[in-house]
Amino acid sequence: MGLLVALDRPGGYEELVGKLCSRVDGFKLGLPLLMARGPGYAGLLRRRCRDALWVADLKLADIGYVMRLTAGLVAEHVDAVIAHGFVGVEGALGELKDYLDSLGKRLVVVASMSHPGAREAYDHALPRILETLERLRPWGVVAPATRPGVVGIVRRRLGPGVAIMSPGVGAQGAEPGSALCAGADYEIVGRAITGSGDPVEAAERIRREQEARLSNC
Ligand code: XMP
Repeated sequence: MGLLVALDRPGGYEELVGKLCSRVDGFKLGLPLLMARGPGYAGLLRRRCRDALWVADLKLADIGYVMRLTAGLVAEHVDAVIAHGFVGVEGALGELKDYLDSLGKRLVVVASMSHPGAREAYDHALPRILETLERLRPWGVVAPATRPGVVGIVRRRLGPGVAIMSPGVGAQGAEPGSALCAGADYEIVGRAITGSGDPVEAAERIRREQEARLSNC
């Protein structure tokens, strides 16, 4: 059972990371934060919670050359980098994966997204993206907690060896634990924790709700 906290809003998170460190499994750093504070800020935060999983959510979607350059700016400070799945393997995700492998870092690929607009194009591309994921075999895949059926499809197709992380819990409406029951390893929660008056209590409550739902899957 996993919980990753999304840190998106530009701001200072040193104190929050310290407080949440023993209560969550990791942190996902969003582009607004990384652009505002610079890649080195990821390293500064990481020193507050070294054993957590640190993911840079760059949502890369470019040719391999540019994705390697972009990932290289932050890779030393994180464990994993997120890229979009629709760009394909040759000349894109394959090159990025080889590059991250050479650094001892992990690639996480978006299979589909959690917002309603994902139905317009992303969901139609899912069968092709699953073929890409089968060939590429990234360490992790992002699949939407708001549509647990998609999480289940990814898990069944890729098997137990891939780490599935699911955003959409809380602010986007999915219940804590719903994606875990569908086969995800981690649920990603942003505003429901970072926007709460008491983020520590919010994280602990979400943990309890995950446990409760998991015991009734
Ligand atoms: P909230 O505040 O809605 O934040 O809990 C959710 C976080 O997850 C990211 N997000 C996604 N990332 N595929 C992704 O790769 C998605 O479908 C998706 N939906 C949300 C969002 O950027 C934020 O950091």
